[in-house]
Amino acid sequence: MQKKLKITALLAAALILNSAYAVAEQSFGGWLINFNRQKGVKPVTDKAYLEECGGCHFAYQPGLLPARSWEALLNKDALRKHFGANAELDDDTLKEIHDYAVDNAADKSWYKRSRKIAVATETGPAPLRITGLLYISRKHEEIPEKMIKGNKGVKSLSFCDKCHTQAAMGVYDADTVNIPNYPNWDGWFAK
Ligand code: HEC
Ligand code: HEC
Repeated sequence: MQKKLKITALLAAALILNSAYAVAEQSFGGWLINFNRQKGVKPVTDKAYLEECGGCHFAYQPGLLPARSWEALLNKDALRKHFGANAELDDDTLKEIHDYAVDNAADKSWYKRSRKIAVATETGPAPLRITGLLYISRKHEEIPEKMIKGNKGVKSLSFCDKCHTQAAMGVYDADTVNIPNYPNWDGWFAK
């Protein structure tokens, strides 16, 4: 009997916790009450964004750049000359993707890593590259070039998901990294 009660109490606690998470997703108020900041960045939920922006590279979460960066990147002219590639979209798809990216940009997100990026990019011109952010380049400055450009399994620091095994979930923690062809990367460079 006592055991049963315990289980019921546990279940009730789990339910309350769960709804707290849901509230945190919805509003700043909920986030404050909850005191439980979402870690990492918010995973991509828009299907068109995932499909169109995940074709040539990993679909970067909008929470990795501030809104004004997405404004600069996601328009007809810019997409025609997208880092040397043509990534043009039809008007309707462009609008959906643009609005989704702007609404979920770093400066509109309460996820922990997005907050850091938002603060670090508050002033200055709109950054066009995530890899160009000081916040991101500092995190990678210790990695030797041979593990990135000189590494057939990676090729560019822009391909986050080659090393960050949980990148698609918005998780970039160092303990989830696996550098292709360098299984013992952790011992290679000083932290
Ligand atoms: C036709 C191929 C193609 C498509 C489609 C494409 N991209 Fe790219 N994208 C590239 C290339 C090439 C680069 C440069 C990669 C490099 O420097 O290694 C790039 C780089 C980027 C970068 C900068 C990455 C960095 O270095 O920090 C962002 C941000 C980006 N793309 C966003 C998008 C978004 C959003 C979409 C969807 C609208 C998209 N891309 C669709 C080819 C594409
Ligand atoms: C060559 C493999 C590689 C690629 C590609 C790469 N990273 Fe990393 N990243 C690492 C490693 C290794 C670390 C941990 C560095 C350390 O421990 O000092 C790291 C650390 C980070 C951190 C800090 C993690 C923490 O725990 O503080 C963030 C955030 C991050 N990367 C984001 C990105 C993003 C976003 C991209 C793509 C634009 C990217 N990384 C591409 C290997 C990579």
